[in-house]
Amino acid sequence: MKNIKDDVLSVLVSEEELDKMVTRIAAEIDRDYADSDKKLVLVCILKGSLVFMGDLMKKITVPVEIDCMKVSSYGAGTQSTGQIHIALDLIRPDIDTCDFLIIEDIIDSGVTLSHLTKYLMLKGAKSVKTCTLLDKPSRRKVDFVPDYRGTEIPDEFVIGYGLDYAEKYRALPFVGILKPEVYLK
Ligand code: PRP
Repeated sequence: MKNIKDDVLSVLVSEEELDKMVTRIAAEIDRDYADSDKKLVLVCILKGSLVFMGDLMKKITVPVEIDCMKVSSYGAGTQSTGQIHIALDLIRPDIDTCDFLIIEDIIDSGVTLSHLTKYLMLKGAKSVKTCTLLDKPSRRKVDFVPDYRGTEIPDEFVIGYGLDYAEKYRALPFVGILKPEVYLK
């Protein structure tokens, strides 16, 4: 029977490292949002951030609300198109009273988070910050520095812990490097 782990070249971030990273980021968020006047809304950017968001929100102890958006910046393969399309928007009447924290699995070109930050501010958000698990600064097309970051990674094709290739591998419990023969064939 086929095992999805067979397509993994190597583990880049293990389950234990992910757990420590998520714990550290949650503590940073608790520290920064301790002010009781803030209404913190975690915005999960579907689908890649689903697993990170689920683990992170369980470790945050300040009050949070959650919401989801769906945007796309990638084409069908491994290259970003540079185009942002908002497929699922926030539908809430209280945007002007919310402190949004956008939760991403990965920053590559920076186009998605740069666009979303401006978009939510234009919609009247009280504040917008960003949090990413993985960061590939070597791939930036626009200047963008997240407020919270798990770890910097090299320019490898990564999968697992929410990240996919052609919608597969999201359920892997670690972040791994995909065998090139999978996407080169
Ligand atoms: C990925 C990732 C970010 C974006 C980052 O999403 O989850 O949203 O690309 O790329 P950028 O910095 O170059 O803009 P993707 O479009 O692959 O969708 P998915 O999360 O549903 O897999």
